[in-house]
Amino acid sequence: MSALPDDQQRAKELLEPAIYDYFAGGAGDEIALADNENSFARLAMLPRVLRGGPAPDTRVHLPGAPHAAPIVVAPTAFHRLAHPRGELATARAAAAAGTVLISGMAATVAIDEVVAAAQEVRPEAPVWFQLYLQPEREVTDRLVERAERAGCTALVVTVDSPVFGERPRDRRNGFHDLPPGYAAENMRDLPGGPPGGTRDIEMSTEISWRHLEALRASTGLPVLLKGILHPDDAHLAVAHGVDGIIVSNHGGRQFDAAPAPVDVLPRLTRAVGGAVPLLLDGGVRRGSDVAVALALGACAVGIGRPVLWGLAVDGEKGVRDVLERFGEEFERALALCGGRSPADLTPDMVVPRGFAGGHR
Ligand code: FNR
Repeated sequence: MSALPDDQQRAKELLEPAIYDYFAGGAGDEIALADNENSFARLAMLPRVLRGGPAPDTRVHLPGAPHAAPIVVAPTAFHRLAHPRGELATARAAAAAGTVLISGMAATVAIDEVVAAAQEVRPEAPVWFQLYLQPEREVTDRLVERAERAGCTALVVTVDSPVFGERPRDRRNGFHDLPPGYAAENMRDLPGGPPGGTRDIEMSTEISWRHLEALRASTGLPVLLKGILHPDDAHLAVAHGVDGIIVSNHGGRQFDAAPAPVDVLPRLTRAVGGAVPLLLDGGVRRGSDVAVALALGACAVGIGRPVLWGLAVDGEKGVRDVLERFGEEFERALALCGGRSPADLTPDMVVPRGFAGGHR
């Protein structure tokens, strides 16, 4: 096993061990967690050469974000556990980098303040709101209204969590809930919750496509589904009129038998056939990983833990440094592949390591 990357090592030294483990850990034996990164290491790219042309332009068109970097900030919970300014710092850094921020329902800063922080840096900075559909319709409706009023430009519905994943590190550390002094601020003052207090986020096996239809009917915002791995679910998502799909195994935190998203991406790309944009997250650690995912059909990737490590190390600046590094690395990878735009990265360029010849 190789050493931890610098930011992660620094974050590990700075954070309380139980908090570090909450961010770093995964479900079960953490096989999916490790596989997410290893799967990129098993893939190589065949660069194209002598193609001429101007310097690369890496921007892509995403729902509710027409000129975005192809690297978005994946939704992760509880940023104030990493840094006192929490999601406010992440939002400012993402805005400065031209990166879509997917702000989580489980944020420790309310969505209207998150969007305001991003837009203070760049008025058109896109923020998407991630939510889990709640069994009580009014609760979901109220959350969506909040996101709309705040100025979010898309909704991301996470669908891989009918129950919480079982995470041995958290069990061992007794980490079940936010420590005193922190709250999931988007859950405050909701129907059925305590006045002035917060409701718990519910995960429910009852949630179905019917709930998604109700959501679609209640909002004009684009809706993306996060956590799809089976091609038949990608078909169903398209049939239900979603505006995008995020191929994800929740960073290996939910179902340890789930495959690495990049390993199933080619099947999902074929299943969707360009009907809606596909994004991917899980194990993206380098600009070259971004290039591989885009070549296999993603239009953008999400990064989760690297942002948390940057936040823990140096707040807003730490996140900005991470996003800039990803941006520069991807631009270099694209140029090294002879590409001028992400569309120049194509599936024929991706081969397994140890490849002995012949295109797949
Ligand atoms: C997450 N993720 C997540 N996803 C989501 O839809 N809602 C959430 O509240 C959270 N919370 C969360 C907390 C922490 C600490 C982590 C690490 C992850 C999953 C996240 O959006 C994304 O799928 C993964 O983090 C991507 O994998 P990498 O980049 O961390 O490998």
